[in-house]
Amino acid sequence: MSVVTTEKHNNILVIVSNNPPVNALGAAVRQRLVDGIEEALSDDAVEAVVIRCDGRTFFAGADITEFGKPMQGPNLGEAIDRLEASSKPVVAAIHGTALGGGCEVALACHYRVAVPSAKMGLPEVKLGLIPGAAGTQRLPRVVGAEAALPMVVIGNPISAKKAHSIGLVDKLVGEDSLAEDAIAFAREQIGKEPPRSSEGTANKDGIKNPAIFDEFRQKNGRKIRGFDAPEAGIQAVKAAGELSYADGVAKERELFTKLMTGTQSAAMRHYFFAERAANKIDGIDPKIELIPIKKVGILGAGTMGGGIGMNFLSAGIPVTIVELKEEALDRGVNVIRKNYENTAKRGRMTEEQVEGAMSILTPSLSYDDLADCDLVIEAVFENMDVKKEVFTKLDGIVKQGAILASNTSYLNIDEIAAVTKRPEYVLGLHFFSPANIMKLLEIVRGEKTADDVLMTAMKLSKKIGKVAAVSGVCPGFIGNRMLSPRQEQANQMIMEGANYWEVDDVLLEFGFPMGPFQMSDLAGVDIGWHRDPERIETLRDALCAVGRWGQKVGKGFYDYDEARQRTPSDEVKQIIAEFAAKAGKEQRDISKDEIRERLLYPMVNEGAKILEEGMAQRASDIDVVWINGYGWPLYTGGPMFWADTVGLDNIVAGLKKHNLPVADLLQEKAAAGGTFNG
Ligand code: 3HC
Ligand code: NAI
Repeated sequence: MSVVTTEKHNNILVIVSNNPPVNALGAAVRQRLVDGIEEALSDDAVEAVVIRCDGRTFFAGADITEFGKPMQGPNLGEAIDRLEASSKPVVAAIHGTALGGGCEVALACHYRVAVPSAKMGLPEVKLGLIPGAAGTQRLPRVVGAEAALPMVVIGNPISAKKAHSIGLVDKLVGEDSLAEDAIAFAREQIGKEPPRSSEGTANKDGIKNPAIFDEFRQKNGRKIRGFDAPEAGIQAVKAAGELSYADGVAKERELFTKLMTGTQSAAMRHYFFAERAANKIDGIDPKIELIPIKKVGILGAGTMGGGIGMNFLSAGIPVTIVELKEEALDRGVNVIRKNYENTAKRGRMTEEQVEGAMSILTPSLSYDDLADCDLVIEAVFENMDVKKEVFTKLDGIVKQGAILASNTSYLNIDEIAAVTKRPEYVLGLHFFSPANIMKLLEIVRGEKTADDVLMTAMKLSKKIGKVAAVSGVCPGFIGNRMLSPRQEQANQMIMEGANYWEVDDVLLEFGFPMGPFQMSDLAGVDIGWHRDPERIETLRDALCAVGRWGQKVGKGFYDYDEARQRTPSDEVKQIIAEFAAKAGKEQRDISKDEIRERLLYPMVNEGAKILEEGMAQRASDIDVVWINGYGWPLYTGGPMFWADTVGLDNIVAGLKKHNLPVADLLQEKAAAGGTFNG
């Protein structure tokens, strides 16, 4: 069957796309859209046209798999110009998500009707692009530059209701009667001169008040730092006010082409597919029957337990949280409530939603209350003996067929599973702090973890809004395992003469939100400290001994002012120098290049070892972990994709130059001129 068909409803021609899963605008769809409009124009009996999609959504955009390949057939811009040029009214009938090229199709139609649940948006920026089929020129002409800016530059979709309020949607129609309502609407437009988005005048707001562009840049500075596409988006929207439509389109094309051929977009497109690939588990049928998770138990209401619980409460899944003592339980529950109330204060939740979430939370001091949970997640102290004791107890109490998970950051899941009579129902669910906010979930697959258990965890991660990746059992799993060599190098370099703030700055410049020493100050330099100021064995001991416990006390590696701005400390520099002298470390200048290479190349090497040992299924899963869990800049595609862009031979040469080990897999790939992704 053709991906696009036409149906005649008396004097209305309905063009229907059916290109699962998301009606991407591939070559065949573009060609058939043009054919459809030709058919309408050449048939005198047709007086108006409706374009709609079958399946779960209106066109969700250009077909991203075609990017970087030669264009087949009409490009999207040409195809939709034909729609707009039609002398007969053309109506877009929107459900699901009209995104990117799909939103541009809708914009080129003369009218847009949508069901209330629909969403519209231009998410190209999330692929390192700007809209490339005149979206940056038509949208401001319809809704104004001010309303267009966030759509083009930030890329979050807006609801149909919002789209209606800004004039992007002409009419909201019945949720279940889109096809008929769109035809009726089209019929009402017959005989009227069709309004064309390219001729709209709303864009003049940006001329009247040109300050909106700088204001927007400033307001979103942090969000767009390091990314190329947002600035291009701002320029394109600005051009929509300043230039003629044709010149504006040419400007958009110029900006678009530059981005499309650049590394950032390649990296972000890689990430788009990486995130989706990470959901797939080699050798497991994605349609395997899942274990229903209707009630979740959490053991431990500390830093992690509470945050983990919130994920489920927010998704409407009842949670029972168990602690040892009343005070700890009360504290944990209060933190949850406070977090929700703060969210409500910021307008991102209603009071009813807060109460709704809290009403399905059951605090308890008894393990027995976990008996009927379908999944129990343990978040108690990081100690193997404690974990073993807890899992033995849980195994005896929690019903058969339920999953038992540990949130451990480093410990061996197989060893934990072995104390139970159901090792196949045991796995690691490694959340990141703050667990209610951080996107990443490392799912740790034990040696005996059953397929349905693993897949249930994977599907559940999506339900609670997490991005998941599977790791095998190894110390630190994927993420923390790769963090170790970076930290080791950071510590070594400051002993060899690098300033610790330079080490942080190199990572900031690379695009991380913070460097290792800032991170240490934030987490607390005193974490795990023995609390004996006389006993000084490590640099940390020395800092703690003089009260430099981190940001919370106003000083750690850095001194902090009221606004938490950091300045390097002479005292710390002195302490480091003394340590280095004691260890007999020769001091030298260390260049920024060396710092960058010694921080990042060993991570790539560790990633290669993780792949070699089969601890990650694919290189792109490692990218997913580092982008979502540790702030690795998205526009570089993650450590493994970034390594490919640097060139694996360069990575190997760099490691050798700094006398660092090179994994076999990395060596082999570099020698063969290969890449991790590709
Ligand atoms: N092109 C090709 N494949 C696409 C695609 C696209 N635009 N959008 C989604 N897919 C694929 C996914 O890779 C996935 O494939 P898989 O099943 O083999 O893994 C499948 O469709 C289903 O996608 P999701 O798992 O993401 O499904 P969801 O239901 O969770 O989400 C969606 C649906 C909201 C539409 C989401 O897929 C999405 O955000 N898609 C991308 C939208 C986008 O970025 N559009 C702009 C494209 S760029 C553009 O249009 C340029 C233009 O200006 C010229
Ligand atoms: P925490 O010390 O804040 O909380 C642990 C809680 O468990 C305490 O409230 C304690 O009273 C309770 N507890 C201890 N034994 C218990 C038992 N037998 N039954 C019920 N409750 C018990 O610790 P945190 O930071 O929440 O860590 C928990 C786990 O999560 C650890 O395994 C840790 O490695 C892991 N983790 C921690 C991260 C972090 O950033 N803090 C990140 C990812 C994982």
